[in-house]
Amino acid sequence: MRVLAGEVVEPPPLWIMRQAGRYLPEYRATRLRAGSFLDLCYTPALAAEVTMQPIRRFDLDAAILFSDILVVPDALGQEVRFVEGRGPVLEPLGGRLPGLDPAQLMKRLAPILETVRLVRAALAADKALIGFCGAPWTVATYMIAGQGSADQAVARRLALNDPSRLGALVATLVDASARYLVAQIEAGADVVKIFDSWAGILDEEGFERWAVAPMADLVGRVRAAAPRTPIIVFPKGAGARLGRYAEVVGADAVAVDWTVPMRTARELVAEPVALQGNLDPLRLVAGGRALRDGVDAILAAMRGRPHIFNLGHGIVPETPVEHVSELVARVRGGAP
Ligand code: CP3
Repeated sequence: MRVLAGEVVEPPPLWIMRQAGRYLPEYRATRLRAGSFLDLCYTPALAAEVTMQPIRRFDLDAAILFSDILVVPDALGQEVRFVEGRGPVLEPLGGRLPGLDPAQLMKRLAPILETVRLVRAALAADKALIGFCGAPWTVATYMIAGQGSADQAVARRLALNDPSRLGALVATLVDASARYLVAQIEAGADVVKIFDSWAGILDEEGFERWAVAPMADLVGRVRAAAPRTPIIVFPKGAGARLGRYAEVVGADAVAVDWTVPMRTARELVAEPVALQGNLDPLRLVAGGRALRDGVDAILAAMRGRPHIFNLGHGIVPETPVEHVSELVARVRGGAP
């Protein structure tokens, strides 16, 4: 929370995206008990339990609510399933677009808000709880294609061929996501993060219209309702456009993927905006020298700048648990 307020803290605080996940045996056991992935997200006692697992094991500085960005389409009435080995599969939209019934949306998301309350009550006072949602564009890509893909071509085609249809969907998602984030803050989230995992796939015009503008709108709405809650944004793949994105969107911190050198992110994003990132998740899988050198380079590049240590994307299932302990020790050991 101090870093998000613009303070330099050394060594930097650290947490990991997907820190509760398949690399942990205790997660896999709870997931089996829950049944489906979405059952786990919608069962507060179990979702709170998996949220706390990595905090207990590694004493990380922040917990991130266990849920998924795709609970929003599910709550809007587009059924979502997570298929083993295939990822998310969404009911085809056909010609219709989901409309927003705020009461219905919040009723469906109520168990997740209960998870936020349970986790905040279980978490030590010096640990932050991160709430989150997906960015409108990123969530829209899954809703339109019905699944993920390497290039999100289905949604990009819609952006070019029928921008008014995409615009209507994105407007619904801005409204639903703002309500959902504010409700998470009211339930006890100390900070919120918005994942724009597919921002970088757009060309210049598309980036402005579908990534930057809806995020600025969403961030503005959350700020109006909760002016003191910091907001982290993650425009994955934004590269050289990180500075522009940070400036227009107006976040407190920008999460950086592993392809951007942190010293470059530092130049692109004006202070006092904090930076979060950005170890390649595969360095955490490799361990040894690859891990140590990666950590040390990031710490050296970020000295003197408000920084939250993190991976450049989510932890992958094949990550050895011991490597996570080594990462924590290396970061806490301070800069070399
Ligand atoms: O970080 C955390 O610990 C909090 C939980 C969290 C999950 N997903 C749990 C999850 C968060 C913050 C997310 C965000 C998310 N979900 C994003 C944005 C960040 C990113 O990854 O770029 C996106 C695009 C999704 C959509 C999604 N969820 C996909 C594409 C998949 C399948 C990928 C895979 O590895 O299977 C998921 C599933 C998912 N979400 C898992 C977890 C722990 C794995 C599911 C399982 O246990 O089987």
